[in-house]
Amino acid sequence: MASLNSLEPLLSLAKRKGFVFQSSEIYGGLNGCWDFGPLGVELLRNIKDAWWKAMTYRADIVGIDASILMHPRTWEASGHVQQFSDPMIDNKTSKARHRADNLIEDFAARMRAKGKTDVAQQIDTRMAAVATNADLYDIIMDFAIPDPVSGTTDWTEVRNFNLMFSTHVGPVADDKSVVYLRPETAQGIFVNMKNVMESARLKPPFGIAQIGKSFRNEINTKNFLFRTREFEQMEMQFFIPPGTEGEWFEYWRQERWAWFTSLGINSEHLRRKPHERLAHYAAAAEDIEYLFPFGWGEVEGVHSRTDFDLMRHQEFSGKKLEYVDTATKERYVPYVIETAVGATRTFMAVLCDAYTEEEIDGGDGTTETRTVLRLKPSLAPVTAAILPLVNKDGMPEAAQQLRADLQRHFRVDYDTSGAIGRRYRRQDEVGTPFCITIDGQTTSDNTVTIRHRDSMQQERVNVADVAAVIGARLLQP
Ligand code: GAP
Repeated sequence: MASLNSLEPLLSLAKRKGFVFQSSEIYGGLNGCWDFGPLGVELLRNIKDAWWKAMTYRADIVGIDASILMHPRTWEASGHVQQFSDPMIDNKTSKARHRADNLIEDFAARMRAKGKTDVAQQIDTRMAAVATNADLYDIIMDFAIPDPVSGTTDWTEVRNFNLMFSTHVGPVADDKSVVYLRPETAQGIFVNMKNVMESARLKPPFGIAQIGKSFRNEINTKNFLFRTREFEQMEMQFFIPPGTEGEWFEYWRQERWAWFTSLGINSEHLRRKPHERLAHYAAAAEDIEYLFPFGWGEVEGVHSRTDFDLMRHQEFSGKKLEYVDTATKERYVPYVIETAVGATRTFMAVLCDAYTEEEIDGGDGTTETRTVLRLKPSLAPVTAAILPLVNKDGMPEAAQQLRADLQRHFRVDYDTSGAIGRRYRRQDEVGTPFCITIDGQTTSDNTVTIRHRDSMQQERVNVADVAAVIGARLLQP
């Protein structure tokens, strides 16, 4: 059984089968933006539903859906106007712009690959001590790091480049009308904390969950859906009494790990990465990483953020953001544990993990390669495919009746074209867990076969029981 060691097969399948297309492809595409096709949108929706259920089908967390455009002071309070930037350097000859830290790290990796480990180590040591953009510039010049495009070291100084997209509200495009497309969903939760706490009559510990689009003008948008300019996040801020952050951080790091494994992701492809350098306000932070074909990459961050965000919004808005216990008169600004996961990045991890190529018996002494998406059945874009063996002898009628019954509960495909083996392969490739074949026996005894994607085993069941058999399988953890 082979799994992915490059993204190429996945990209090809994603396009061919309608999971993901390049945005505005007919115009040559727009870098860092992708469109979800008919199957992709279902898989993404199922992942978001799984998250929403895990986070909000409990007594202490409620959901919201805040707007993408927010008051610009929000982003001053959050620090994004000042600090949400990457250090960029331009090559004067090629005019190519690079993230300075990436340029250095890529150069060090090339040195290592050439066996010049002493140079790579010197660079690593210098990088560990970087405090300013000037430090990055000095490393680039001291090691004569060339532009990969022009090969020259004709560099500008290193400058900060803000990653927020800005636009204007209303008809006048001046400084006063600037607003930003949100770079994270979290701030919509912080600014609504008081409204939600009071309207839903909550008291800490409680959480607010949100799923929505975020936008970042990323410089390097490589690796398919991993780093894009428009993406979807699923974030939850858990508001707690100060002093309880240690136990809640531990609780959420366990819960979030368990969620990834509940999606069917192999735990050997996941790892925890505690942050080595914490932000000055943070008490603890840990990423969950997935082993993508290009290496380990963050899929979620769990952050213990103290009362930093609410204090900042209190200061910038002039509004109290406290919890007040009316009985005891105790009052405090809640501390926050944040869980922040990318829906689109998780989509990619789920696809990578499910993608399998395996050699199977071709039936006549030969072997053939079967591509199968071993998706957890509840995540699969199509739950069941209905396949009448031939298009006559009452089979289409029985199949259409079953289709009408099943699609009241599940997404169902209907396929009559080609040999049955080829139809199974088509469904395997898109991860359909159940193929239901209507054959000559169906019209005489009202039974069909259910063929299971992973084992390729078939079972014969009464037509009336098909929905219950599938439903039970979907509910399995
Ligand atoms: N509120 C905290 C926050 O936004 P983050 O680590 O910047 O934290 C959280 O983002 C998650 O959002 C990441 O772990 C990743 O899954 C996803 N994400 C961030 N930037 C992304 C991008 N450019 N493209 C796709 N997903 C992204």
